[in-house]
Amino acid sequence: MNASWQNTADERLKTILNSLVEHLHDFLRDVEPTLDEWMQGLQFLTATGQKCDDVRQEFILLSDILGVSMLVDAINNRKPQGATESTVLGPFHMVDSPARELGADISLDGNGTPCVVAGQVRSLDGTPLAGALVDVWQANGDGLYDVQQPDKQPALNLRGLFTTDDKGRYWLRSVVPRHYPVPTDGPVGDLLRASQRHAYRPAHIHFIAGAQGHHPVTTHMFLDGSRYLDSDAVFAVKNELIRSIVVINDEARAAEFGVQVPFHLIEFDIVLDPATQQPVELS
Ligand code: BEZ
Ligand code: FE
Repeated sequence: MNASWQNTADERLKTILNSLVEHLHDFLRDVEPTLDEWMQGLQFLTATGQKCDDVRQEFILLSDILGVSMLVDAINNRKPQGATESTVLGPFHMVDSPARELGADISLDGNGTPCVVAGQVRSLDGTPLAGALVDVWQANGDGLYDVQQPDKQPALNLRGLFTTDDKGRYWLRSVVPRHYPVPTDGPVGDLLRASQRHAYRPAHIHFIAGAQGHHPVTTHMFLDGSRYLDSDAVFAVKNELIRSIVVINDEARAAEFGVQVPFHLIEFDIVLDPATQQPVELS
């Protein structure tokens, strides 16, 4: 069978095709599908493709709920100790986030409990990274992203691209994230129902942070105490990424962020590894 790929000019492609066919055949020998089951599988993949459009990525979702996205992430993001861990991108980072001033309120629909999100971007040795870019996006108080409700939410709701100040700090106003289900109105939802798996993700905010001379990181802040932290439908929780939300009564801190006391604060520092850092072996 491998001989059929022997003329593939691209060596990497040849390796991938050989391995893919070998593992697919092993899978079929193991499962011994009936003709009906095989056809059902093909129809499932067809429906998954047909569900995709500019704002719906059913194949990414399939990869996510199979744990494949997290495995690919682990293979490609072997972070040194101390650097912020990565996690899945998810299917909702599909528009460029609008550049916003530090302190801006990204909740354009005001749907949710207001909060301040703040942190510092640092290099692995602790140096604050001024001018770092922090891209933030999240779902609203109903657990839905702007692109899921184009007729209800303002465009670019709960999205913002921030640039850190001279001390590497960023801060913004938003709403407290809450748990929500991944979309279940497609073939992936059918699969979750057939296997009696729930579709929920714990409360989180998405981040992509990058700075000159450093590897960017795609990650989440997960909210401590949220439901589903131990059973995320897409297996993306890492304990190092869980943060508490605190109520602040300190007037000076409120003034720092341009809000009134009491206010909710989530702090999420981000540590980037320098691009010169050698990759770390997975244990
Ligand atoms: C998200 O967090 O936006 C997400 C991630 C994976 C699948 C669905 C949604
Ligand atoms: Fe999300």
